[in-house]
Amino acid sequence: MSSLFEEIKDEAPETTPVRRVTVTVNGARRTADVEPRLLLAHLLRQGFGLTGTHTGCDTTNCGACTVLVDGTPVKSCTMLAVQTDGHEVTTVEGMGTASELHPIQEGFKDEHGLQCGFCTPGMMLTAKALLEQNPDPTEDDVRFALSGNLCRCTGYQNIVKSVLWAAKKMQGEAPADDADHTTAVAEEA
Ligand code: FES
Ligand code: FES
Repeated sequence: MSSLFEEIKDEAPETTPVRRVTVTVNGARRTADVEPRLLLAHLLRQGFGLTGTHTGCDTTNCGACTVLVDGTPVKSCTMLAVQTDGHEVTTVEGMGTASELHPIQEGFKDEHGLQCGFCTPGMMLTAKALLEQNPDPTEDDVRFALSGNLCRCTGYQNIVKSVLWAAKKMQGEAPADDADHTTAVAEEA
């Protein structure tokens, strides 16, 4: 009786196939040779050293790995690196600098929108896409936009407030001050 499977050792490729991808990451053109199965999250972290993109679950659940691809939030643990060939990717490293924070980063700082910070890059990039589409969101709009991003330690109240703070700042209005925050936290406790 013949076997159902025949191992074809002689024809097996000797090297792992690679594809060349060229991606614009945070405004800079980057080129890499990648295995077709490589996830975007791993190209960013291990390939380009952009470790601000976090991986929490690798199952499209937590949103910690969220980056923007052509301005759209994408869970980078769910996208292949080769799919970004010719596209633009924005990671948290492209949002602002330590001396010149993006208003969303300022909002998270001012409104205490983080504790451990693990979810924060994904939260901020999702918020960035939201505010570009909807500069004056309601609280419900923010909650809906962030519904694919999980936070295990801060709770969502201050995260939502951080995004609303940033929306005001980006529209040139004075955001709520810290006194409001202190009161709100005391009420929530
Ligand atoms: S690591 Fe991608 S969604 Fe959790
Ligand atoms: S700040 Fe810790 S998981 Fe969100």
